[in-house]
Amino acid sequence: MDGIRIRGGRALSGRVRVSGSKNAALPILCATLLSDGESLVRNVPDLRDIGTTGQLLETMGCSVACAPPTVRVKPNDVTPEAPYELVKQMRASVLVLGPLLARYGRAKVSLPGGCQIGSRPVDQHLKGLEALGATIRTDHGYVLAEASRLRGAEVVFDMPTVTGTENLLMAGALAKGRTTLVNCAREPEVIELARVLNKMGAKIRGAGTPVIEIEGQDELAPFDHAIIPDRIEAGTYLVAAAAAGGDVLVENVPVDDLEALLAKLRASGVTLEPDGSGVRVLRHGRLRSVDVTTSPHPGFPTDMQAQFMVLMCMAEGTSRISETVFENRFMHVPELARMGADIEVQGHTAFVKHTARLDGTEVMATDLRASASLVIAGLVAEGETLVRRVYHLDRGYERMEEKLGALGADVTRERGIDG
Ligand code: EPZ
Repeated sequence: MDGIRIRGGRALSGRVRVSGSKNAALPILCATLLSDGESLVRNVPDLRDIGTTGQLLETMGCSVACAPPTVRVKPNDVTPEAPYELVKQMRASVLVLGPLLARYGRAKVSLPGGCQIGSRPVDQHLKGLEALGATIRTDHGYVLAEASRLRGAEVVFDMPTVTGTENLLMAGALAKGRTTLVNCAREPEVIELARVLNKMGAKIRGAGTPVIEIEGQDELAPFDHAIIPDRIEAGTYLVAAAAAGGDVLVENVPVDDLEALLAKLRASGVTLEPDGSGVRVLRHGRLRSVDVTTSPHPGFPTDMQAQFMVLMCMAEGTSRISETVFENRFMHVPELARMGADIEVQGHTAFVKHTARLDGTEVMATDLRASASLVIAGLVAEGETLVRRVYHLDRGYERMEEKLGALGADVTRERGIDG
């Protein structure tokens, strides 16, 4: 496994460009299963999770040309089964369940299991598909689902679930009749998937609001679509520049999808100036502590919580950071503490006190966004930080060491240091 070595304490300057959105690309690649023709997906980021999804589609029988930023997928003789081997690498594999059931009338998909940040059940996905007429049982860790033809129905989610909403969007698109989804996730990636499904001939209204109406179709056409930029990658570089200090232009930032984060950055004393398709980040002076509570979009994104926590270590005062979406998303805290951070966790809230200085040391990545926070901490720390197990990072960040290097950071990848 690789590690990333960072020699910290340097301000950043220059420009970095945001790649396509991982969390938009994953459901859209699964949506290719809904039609027979060859679909073309553009602006796809070059990430482990994209490769895993390509592998999964190929395992099921699709012909896949995965050459990011372009991915071509053509379903042929699909065997609607997603094996544990692949699903355990990436929870989002559950996104094949809706399209397989809608298009092929059956699906056998391994239950994703939990992950570091929480149990992450899929009960809402299954409840929704049953409402559309599927018979579903679980057997030896697999979901076995069948439906000769899904029928439109009303589905009320117990909580806004991003991939749950996405699975039901894809299932409803080919169901017979109208489906109404209530208490939907409003994330930009849900809107982007609905955009692509409508390009395929679906009739979807209300994506981005809590209620989505879908008029089911008998068949859908392949599509050619360029993916929106990754708002979490964008936010990660904005926070990195604010934490390290300096003057950085982050290009291709979907500012309308980051209002909660941008407001908190400004409140903490960071200067953000719109600049063409991007945002210029300037931070030379002191930072102020601000309180943050994560919540479903358009609230403060849970996927930005770990990164923002590092910024708050540098800020005067104490910041209260509450994580309301996942039950165990503070794994970065003990690692930051080893670097000298002063953070006390009480239940779902972390109290982040000002730290005069972080010290570089060896730290271990545990999940995707926690690993990004450790890299940011390395940029800020005195001395050298080695972040181990950066395969977590590679799942969601395209060539991070190169992008940070272009901003003047001293960051190198160490191949195979953990065997
Ligand atoms: C998506 O995960 C994202 N992944 C996550 O990003 C993101 O953190 C999360 O949404 C929240 O924004 C992708 O889009 C591929 P949820 P998802 O269903 O859909 C509970 C990253 O870093 N829940 O919205 O799995 C669940 O336990 C990843 O890129 C149920 O109880 O998240 C959680 O507490 C990490 N039952 C809450 O809902 C269900 O059936 C929100 O989860 C589904 C969800």
